[in-house]
Amino acid sequence: MENLIHELRDGRLRPGEGLTFGTHRVNPVEHIPFDVKTLTRDFQVGRKASGEPYRFHIKTYGCQMNEHDTETMAGLLTAMGMQSTVEDAEADLILFNTCAVRENAEDKVFGEVGRLRPLKARNPELMLGLCGCMAQEQSVIQYVREKFPWVDLVFGTHNLHRLPALVMQARQSQETVLEVWDGPQHTVEGLPRLRRDEVSAWVNVQYGCNKFCTYCIVPHTRGAERSRFPKDILAEISELVNQGVREVTLLGQNVNDYGADLGEVNFAQLLRQVNALPGVERIRFTTSNPWNFTDELIAAIAQSNHVAEHIHLPVQSGNNQILKRMNRTYSREFYLALVDKIRQSVPDVSLTTDIIVGFPGETEEQFLDTLSLVEEVQFDNAFTFIYSPRENTPAAAWKDDVSESEKRLRLQRLNELQYAISLEKNQALQDRVVEVLVEGRSKTNSEVLAGRTRTNKLALFPGSEELIGKLVPVHIEQPQTWILKGRIVQQEVARR
Ligand code: 5AD
Ligand code: SF4
Repeated sequence: MENLIHELRDGRLRPGEGLTFGTHRVNPVEHIPFDVKTLTRDFQVGRKASGEPYRFHIKTYGCQMNEHDTETMAGLLTAMGMQSTVEDAEADLILFNTCAVRENAEDKVFGEVGRLRPLKARNPELMLGLCGCMAQEQSVIQYVREKFPWVDLVFGTHNLHRLPALVMQARQSQETVLEVWDGPQHTVEGLPRLRRDEVSAWVNVQYGCNKFCTYCIVPHTRGAERSRFPKDILAEISELVNQGVREVTLLGQNVNDYGADLGEVNFAQLLRQVNALPGVERIRFTTSNPWNFTDELIAAIAQSNHVAEHIHLPVQSGNNQILKRMNRTYSREFYLALVDKIRQSVPDVSLTTDIIVGFPGETEEQFLDTLSLVEEVQFDNAFTFIYSPRENTPAAAWKDDVSESEKRLRLQRLNELQYAISLEKNQALQDRVVEVLVEGRSKTNSEVLAGRTRTNKLALFPGSEELIGKLVPVHIEQPQTWILKGRIVQQEVARR
């Protein structure tokens, strides 16, 4: 405990002071168990004067890694005796779990932090906290200090497990409590989690990224790659299965690099081990990097009957010069050959991707290469972005003579092409019977159930609640661009 408070004082932001960051230790970091006993004994928030419990609300921006971090923070806060709420006005603690990948996501957060300030006048106990990837940026911390001094708490991605201590400190402090570490000090196992879904669960296999693509801030905000030990991953999944979870999504920034820092098993071997666990119905994973998507991994996917037929394989650009300047370390030809190999081994696989348009200096011809790659691959779906310059990344310093309006136009052209392909791909499923894992009710119609196909497509069909968590055969009647509408049928469905 003393040690914790010492670290906290060191990390605390006082007016007029510079920023103090924790020490950065190089890999391999120590793996330590989380001390749940101390949490439930020494970090209880108690009740409000009214007898009501303290309530928290976490606003999550960005990727699945962040969504999963939110589950961990919710687990920690619940163990402290707080309750979750979705209402800002009811909350005594609002956390912004932020994303730094693009500037517009950052602007949204700043807008929200400003918008919520008046709530503090209504509820003097309300605390606002900023965490996640933005908190790892020096410029953001300076900005918060100058413009948002009413923010009570700032912490980063590497010390999320310290949330209970930081909340306790912030409750007593008149000043912003700031603790941001510039790198991971340890990998913490056994954190409590409040999961959003009982059927499908995220499981971290690896943290951080070593790739340093020239546009990307993630290696700076999430640190170097660290893998969890296979025994810890397998134990977590077994526990989830015991609780009724049917589907797991293995999370990492570069999952196919998994294990490189441990020297135990690689990602292909891990997939086979997870596949062999009793009770795991479906296994997904994200994100993969094309450059080391090995034949061994393709074979593991093809031969593991619980691994779903969906691969998210960010390509970013279809032009070799741009790929080189992005430091993606593969070429267009390599990517296309990889797609062929995957499709040969995993028939009916669905492929999704990420694409950036308007990278500094991207010419019309180079952009046309991206369009032609999209045409050639026929992705099931693509997440498309306009390039956004990010602090401390090489590309941010490069000359960029492409106008914003031209970039927006390119995005529109790319999306139009992709939407047409997505629709066509889904239309090919007309009258097919597909296996769907029922996840819950549709958000808009309580008579309708929602679930996903093995290929990760959202299916909607009439049905009753007791089917949640079950695999059902669904006859596709109305395929659309983003969803498949259908009906449950009494029919066996081929697994692959
Ligand atoms: N600008 C635009 N898009 C970006 N991405 C990452 N960094 C940037 C940036 N600076 C996109 C990439 C990545 C996805 C998660 O976000 O396509 O795969
Ligand atoms: Fe960013 Fe590249 Fe790492 Fe993906 S692989 S997180 S795009 S640096």
